Amino acid sequence: MSTTAVGHLGGVASPEAMARQVGISILKAGGNAVDAAVAIGFALAVTFPSAGNIGGGGFMLYRHPSGKNTAIDFRETAPAAATADMYLDRAGNVLGGDGSSVDGYRACGIPGSVAGFELAWKQFGSGRVSWSKLIDPAVELAHSGFPMPYSLRISLALSSDRIRRDSTFQDIFLTRSALGWQPKAIGTYIRQHRLGDTLGRIRDNGARDFYRGTTARLLASDIQKHGGLITTPDLATYNPQTRKPLSGRFMHHQVLTMPPPSSGGIALLQMLGMIERCQKIPDAYTAEYIHIVAQAMRRAFRDRAEYLGDADFVDVPIDALLDRTHIAKLAQGLSVDMKARVDDLPASRRIGTESEQTTHFTVIDRDGGVVSTTYTLNGSYGAAVVSESTGIILNNEMDDFTAKVGVPNQFGLIQSAKNAISPRKRPLSSMTPTIVVDHHGHIKIATGSPGGPTIINSVLHTVLNSVCFGKNVHEAVAAPRFHHQWKPEILQIEKSLLSVRTSLTSLGYETAVRSLGDVHAGAWSPRSGVMMSSDPRGTGDALAE
Ligand code: DON
Repeated sequence: MSTTAVGHLGGVASPEAMARQVGISILKAGGNAVDAAVAIGFALAVTFPSAGNIGGGGFMLYRHPSGKNTAIDFRETAPAAATADMYLDRAGNVLGGDGSSVDGYRACGIPGSVAGFELAWKQFGSGRVSWSKLIDPAVELAHSGFPMPYSLRISLALSSDRIRRDSTFQDIFLTRSALGWQPKAIGTYIRQHRLGDTLGRIRDNGARDFYRGTTARLLASDIQKHGGLITTPDLATYNPQTRKPLSGRFMHHQVLTMPPPSSGGIALLQMLGMIERCQKIPDAYTAEYIHIVAQAMRRAFRDRAEYLGDADFVDVPIDALLDRTHIAKLAQGLSVDMKARVDDLPASRRIGTESEQTTHFTVIDRDGGVVSTTYTLNGSYGAAVVSESTGIILNNEMDDFTAKVGVPNQFGLIQSAKNAISPRKRPLSSMTPTIVVDHHGHIKIATGSPGGPTIINSVLHTVLNSVCFGKNVHEAVAAPRFHHQWKPEILQIEKSLLSVRTSLTSLGYETAVRSLGDVHAGAWSPRSGVMMSSDPRGTGDALAE
């Protein structure tokens, strides 16, 4: 298998082989990129349970071959009973353990994936593939099962401390040995009948089953039984949103990306704007280049921390943040001569270390229609609990809200009161599905990644590699990455950049070494067709016809 694939009839880059095959078969059956993406989204809920989901949410960016584009926001929302201080103890300290914003049923936001997929299919599907054809493969994979892949076993082992307490995780994925609960052996058939039944109801009755029907009743009852907040009215009132993508210019290209409640699009456009204003962009991956880009990252993440939240609830000055004068101000002093300034705001030492908890996939159809989707349960296996009567793994997206101003969340992000918890509000996200279009209207790169806050910078790297340095999609995805998120004041670099670590230290950076992101990207032109590429850092692969 290769991480890169080329073809003329369309292609898929995604983290898991069975779901990828489902996507290709929908394209072959005459489906467009949206049809295929929806089928992949459902299939990954079965075959990639750490992040693929119907119990979570995300964003889908779509560009029609005509150039029209749209963003579907199916981010989770806070339940009606949620309150700003729900994760604080009496002394005002952030709670840990069960009942926290990370573990257990209280961590769960109202899932949006099923509603988002239905909206995408109804509005932007080709009309040639029925809803049931899109979900059939997922139902079949859940009931017939599939042999435990190596990558799933590793991922389960990494999360076994969290998931082993849940009886459904035990039944389906684990086995008890003298050493305690371990993932089942590679090759053991994994069957998920409850999940298959739920998917079957969604196939037969549409998203209304999930939000107002049998699944809604079962799901709310399981959640309530375990002390969670989500009720049947919460599910019945969930609405995905169609949003206008942010559109910016970078070196004669159009950059389409995700607006709030994602922070990613604003940060990405700010960073590109700052970098474009530099008199000279140093050669890629020199210490000077890393220095300039890292300082642009610091500035964009500082704005993220201060100004961003769900724009349906709080005032987010999107236009002002993307205004040329503001970006010029942010870019002031960006040069190879500056020092890595560490300012006096309290620094957090927490940084996330896992990278596989969210997932991104890109689909391009034969006409150049493109879907870039990032969706998630937030943490690996979400809140580490499964609704036993529906087989749905539940997200812990509530942790993306500000539990307490100034206290970092699981990704070390410090956020403001703009992102405080409020009923029906969406937590701020870093997911950044992005599509870059050249002046011919061809797809230069459609890209996205998991990785919490590192998502934004992984996307930035692929765009810079493609647009500034002329790399093809494969090279743009494979090239080294680094990450700075302002707080904590640590520059994370990949192993491949160790040769410049000493220079970075002498510029004033504290560095840490870590692999960053799992990008799945694609490019398209009428002459060359598609080139799809999956990150060599991850378990995924690309397929094209
Ligand atoms: O929306 C967000 O920003 C996070 N829930 C994404 C989490 C994530 O990417 C985890 N993967 N490492």
